[in-house]
Amino acid sequence: MEKKIAVIGAGNVGASAALYLAEANMADIVLLDVVEGMPQGKALDLTEAGPVRGYNSRLSGSNDYKDLAGCDLVVVTAGVARTPGMTREDLLNKNSGILDKVVEGITSNAPEAMILVVSNPLDIMTYHALKKSGLPSSRVFGQAGVLDSTRFRSFVAMELGVALTDTQAMVMGGHGDTMVPLPRYTTVSGIPISELMPEERVQALIERTRKGGGEIVQLLKSGSAYYAPAAATVEMIRAVILDEKKLLPASVLLEGQYGLKDICIGVPVVLGAGGVEKIIELELSGEERAALHTSAATYKEILASMGY
Ligand code: NAI
Ligand code: 2OP
Repeated sequence: MEKKIAVIGAGNVGASAALYLAEANMADIVLLDVVEGMPQGKALDLTEAGPVRGYNSRLSGSNDYKDLAGCDLVVVTAGVARTPGMTREDLLNKNSGILDKVVEGITSNAPEAMILVVSNPLDIMTYHALKKSGLPSSRVFGQAGVLDSTRFRSFVAMELGVALTDTQAMVMGGHGDTMVPLPRYTTVSGIPISELMPEERVQALIERTRKGGGEIVQLLKSGSAYYAPAAATVEMIRAVILDEKKLLPASVLLEGQYGLKDICIGVPVVLGAGGVEKIIELELSGEERAALHTSAATYKEILASMGY
């Protein structure tokens, strides 16, 4: 195919993203991981599903960054999860060390590629990838808001007994407890949810959205969510590869928008062939703006602890 996408980290999110990508039939796909044989095995398995699922994307697995040559976009899902005894700082150091190697592999072998970061802590890793890569900020962005918004949408649909696909939502801010779901911009077929359910239920769904990642972790007992994260990631990739000009939330570098500077955090953007083609600056209420600034402050502190 004309377009080529690499997925770094062939674990739960990476492999699920590769499946959704293949089914979208829009690009060839390289799955890359440090584990020998595993990305090759998953790529072969996915290829063998193609004849019955009706896709023709060429899939390959690799442990060598040279195979990224010619990529249009690279998704980064590589990382480790926190294990018992590991502090948040340990995790941060470990995952930023992995990201250093990944970014070096991308920029040396696919200098034209955009980078879509998925690894956690998302907003920090996106900023780190941006700085390490030296790429323009329109070409390095992170996925979290599409996931948080699709969770909010699902909870609205479940609450009201309406079609999942009739819901729309916008969640801004960082990917964590301080995220900022915006009920004002959350609708069912254009009708604000405030007209469809009492305020206390709106607040309950916001709270569930904020804790959406943790809810899945508790149920799975090992590992975190991957189907919805992968679907959200592929939604963003489609927008870029097919130049859809989609208005979606993404973690991007802010340079004064919303009164924030030198930080990556979730805001609505237009995604197309140029990557982040536009940052949309919504008129926020005082409360919403304060919530966004509180969220940003927590990430500023972490960035400072990393020497930024
Ligand atoms: P996983 O453990 O299933 O997969 C991670 C993969 O990364 C493993 O296959 C591992 O071998 C690989 N890896 C580790 N070091 C590597 C390196 N140096 N180079 C290449 N590959 C390497 O984890 P899962 O569930 O796929 O999650 C991946 C990441 O995505 C985690 O950081 C997770 O917290 C994050 N995540 C982010 C979401 C978001 O919305 N931004 C949502 C869900 C997960
Ligand atoms: C999630 O929200 C773990 O970030 C991941 O499911």
